[in-house]
Order: sequence, then structure tokens, then C-alpha cells
Amino acid sequence: EKGGYASFMLKEIADQPRAVADTLLGRIDGEGSLHLDEVRIPDADLREVDKVVIVACGTAFHAGMIAKYAIEHWTRLPCETELASEFRYRDPILDQRTLVVAISQSGETMDTLMALRHAREQGAKVLAICNTNGSTIPRESDAVLYTHAGPEVAVASTKAFLTQLVACYLVALYLGQLRGTKWGDEIRTVVRQLSAVPGEVERVLETMEPVRELARSLAHHDTVLFLGRHVGYPVALEGALKLKELAYMHAEGFAAGELKHGPIALVEKGLPVVVIAPSPRGRSVLHDKIVSNIQEIRARGARTIVVAEEGDQAVVPYADHLITVPATPTLLQPLVATVPLQVFACELATARGNEVDQPRNLAKSVTVE
Ligand code: F6R
Repeated sequence: EKGGYASFMLKEIADQPRAVADTLLGRIDGEGSLHLDEVRIPDADLREVDKVVIVACGTAFHAGMIAKYAIEHWTRLPCETELASEFRYRDPILDQRTLVVAISQSGETMDTLMALRHAREQGAKVLAICNTNGSTIPRESDAVLYTHAGPEVAVASTKAFLTQLVACYLVALYLGQLRGTKWGDEIRTVVRQLSAVPGEVERVLETMEPVRELARSLAHHDTVLFLGRHVGYPVALEGALKLKELAYMHAEGFAAGELKHGPIALVEKGLPVVVIAPSPRGRSVLHDKIVSNIQEIRARGARTIVVAEEGDQAVVPYADHLITVPATPTLLQPLVATVPLQVFACELATARGNEVDQPRNLAKSVTVE
């Protein structure tokens, strides 16, 4: 069943180009327009939406954090992303014009289910992004957009995450198309960029041997930190979560700008710090800031592991280890930048003798609140 792979997790990491391609399939026409006919919320209702709220847990929550950037950028609608387990306890402000997006691989996560029930009680429309046909969350939602990751067996989520991101980008573009904030050429451009992602993920997967070697060399460490900015911040959180759950290490993700407000005190000689560098093209301010963050931590003795776009010369002098990913627009970068972090965590966990498909204390779907 593992198809020659040592674990389901490795198999599922390798399956990501196919999973991403399948999640895009049939949702874009030759003209570059989006068709989400399966989303059974009338376009007229979607045009009325004045706020988007995303609820999810764990890895799906990280996808939701990234979606917030895409939705606000492409639709100009305010969007918040909240942990499903916190959502209803703060009595959130919702009405008929709120679109709640519930993201869940299993479709059975109780925290997410309770959040969506609460949202519907307040009159909000709920769209589920889900990987499991006929599961509870899509059944109880107004509409569903399925991810086509295929069955995910390993407890740690990998291919489901990438497909959740794709589904979120599609929802963001669709809302943009309906609202007229994004049209024709621009949508076509993003769609073309999305269509290139399976090939780019494939290329990342082909260059993972140095990442595996690096992971093995860090097996005796106790702590690894992850830093990112903008959409790189949720990627940092996701890299840290994978390492916690698989390698049972202390791993934390920070927004790079927060470093100086406290976490930099953790940096000591030899501490591995993974930094997600945004594309140096486009928003260069973001990139410049990350470069100075890398310099700061390196000056304090950190061992810097930098995930950067191919050809990014500016980070080279400060990267003890450089992991390159293909050039993508900033908003889409998580689709390629997360992959090395999955491989890193999987290899590090294996080097520590852990069972990667079944990490201790965890279950694949969490059906209690
Ligand atoms: C981490 C992981 C979990 C899930 C979370 C939500 O690798 O798998 O954090 O993402 O429990 O699960 P779903 O998506 O099934 O609602």
C-alpha cells in the first residue's frame, strides 16, 4: 500500500504534484475563468458577502491564515482566520452577509464542526473546504469545495495542506471574479501560475537530498525555530508544527518582525533557525527585512537554514544552509516553500527513531472538542 515508500507520509509528500493538479482540474476554463459550480451558494448571495471568516484547526488553520492574505488582496473583503476551538467562545459578530469558510481534511473535526454550527445559527453562510466526501462538516455546510488530495493516511497532514491552499486560492479568485475586483487577465495570470505549481513541487521534491542530510545532522538538537513574514509566517508555523508532532522536538514559529520583541533572547550559539525568505522580486521591502533578520540571528550565533527563491543572491552570504525553491508570486510561495519543511520534519523524526505515520498521542481525526 505504501507503494515502495518507507512510510505513508513519504508517499503522500511525493503525491503532492498530482494532488494539486487534481484540485485545480475542471475548475478553470480555457478562457481563464473560474467555475465553481459545485459551490451551491447562489452567486447573488456571494456578491452580497461583506466579510469572510475562516475557521479551522492545526495545519488546516495554517492554510486558513495564508488564505486571509489571498482573500483580502484579491477581493478587498475583510477576512479573519480564527482557531475553530476559540471561535464560538468569544461570541463572534456574524450575520447573513458573512461567509464562513470551514477548512477540514477529515470533515469530522469536532472543534470545526461546532464553530460552523455556531456560524449557521447566527445566519452566516458556511462553505466547507474538505477532503472527505460525505463527511459531517460538508453535510452540515451550505456548500462544499472538495480538495482532491485523495486519502491521507499519515497522521501528519501534508498533501491535504497543499490542496487546501489551492482551494482557498480558487475561492479567493472566484469571489474576486464575482465582485469585479479581479478580472480576465489578472485571473488568467494567477491561474497560469497555479497550473505551473505541480511541476514546481515536483522539482522541489527532486532536490531534497541535501535537506534530508541536514535533518539527520540535527537529530540531537532540542530546539528548532522557524521565522517568516507575510505568508511565510504561517509557513513557519506549519514547519514548526510538523517538527513538534513528528520529531517531538521543541519547535516554534515566529513572525520575523516579532523577533526583536522577545524571541531573539532564545537565540544562542548553534541554534538551528529556519527562515522562509519571500521572493526578492515584487515586494522587495519584505525581502530586505528578512535579510536583516537573518543577519541579526546569525550575528548571535544561530545556524541559519534559509528557504529562498532560486537565484536569490542576497541571502547567500548569511545562509549556513540554503534550500532553494522555484520562483513563484509571493502569495503562492507557501505551495513550494512548505514542501522542504515536510521532508525535513519527516527525516528528522525518522533519524530520532520515531514512527512518522503514527506519532505518539495523536489521532488522524479529532472528534472530541
Ligand atoms: C497536523 C494535523 C492536524 C490537523 C487538524 C485538523 O499535521 O494533521 O493539525 O490539521 O487536526 O484536522 P482536519 O483538517 O481533519 O480538520
